[in-house]
Amino acid sequence: MKVRELLTNTYKSSPLLPAEIDSILGITLHKSKEYLYKKSDKNLTISAIKKFKKLIIKRQTGWPMAYLRGWQEFYALKFLVNKNTLIPRSDSELIIDTSLEFLKNSKNLNILDIGTGSGCLIIALAKNKANNNYTACDISKSALKTAKTNARKHKTKINFVHSDLLNNISLDPSSGPKPAQKFDLIIANLPYLTPQQMKEPSIKKEPRSALLSGKDGLDHYTKLLSTIKPFLAPKSCILLEIDPEQSKQIKTIIKQYLPQAKIEIIQDLNKLDRLIKITA
Ligand SMILES: C[S@@+](CC[C@H](N)C(=O)[O-])C[C@H]1O[C@@H](n2cnc3c(N)ncnc32)[C@H](O)[C@@H]1O
Repeated sequence: MKVRELLTNTYKSSPLLPAEIDSILGITLHKSKEYLYKKSDKNLTISAIKKFKKLIIKRQTGWPMAYLRGWQEFYALKFLVNKNTLIPRSDSELIIDTSLEFLKNSKNLNILDIGTGSGCLIIALAKNKANNNYTACDISKSALKTAKTNARKHKTKINFVHSDLLNNISLDPSSGPKPAQKFDLIIANLPYLTPQQMKEPSIKKEPRSALLSGKDGLDHYTKLLSTIKPFLAPKSCILLEIDPEQSKQIKTIIKQYLPQAKIEIIQDLNKLDRLIKITA
């Protein structure tokens, strides 16, 4: 069967948009859409047609394009993603812009990313500001594996730690248990959705453990803030991505555990509260 024929048949039989169908054939053949348009007379192998049909069914059953492709762009860098990692969101680029502003004119600072997933945040920072010490953790071993591959691909030096929040961060594997490490910048895009928000169909194939955080979406940040103080270097900064509806509640939690801290809310391009900046 030729490219043109397969595409025309699928436009008729599938509920997907033609542009998506074209992209899926591109993914199948590892070619651009432009290539497909130019080579519409090309004969396809049986295995390519089979793979294409499988991907079409996956997409029809709600698999995001990023998982079919196997990568997602974030801060102009390509990151490998799979069902164990959240797909990086452009909203989270605000963490990078704000971090780079904080890191301006500095070097040799200690930076920690909690809940690193694909590693997109810490790798984007390390790529843009190499002269610092970067650490990242996640509770998911499979996510860490992907993050390590991404770090290698982008030639960045990051210390990855398997940890439930800060639990293993104070442990230095080379010298045994030691007092908590101090960080100048701590960033986190931890799970913050409620069970109600989890019903959104577009996120149903992403890891639940990367999204859901108790009844009010605040379990992770509450636990993190209750244990974070010993890890803060003087004049340090914490950046937390939040749901726009959570800013009031999270301010109350911060005041409880870090009463002296300065709290700022940073809005995204849609003028929604997206980031909490805490300076100690
Ligand atoms: C919303 S995703 C963010 C991933 C990535 N930082 C990003 O911005 O795309 C949250 C991440 O936190 C991790 N996570 C969930 N609970 C955790 C915990 N208790 N300790 C450490 N990481 C956790 C999940 O495995 C997931 O990778």
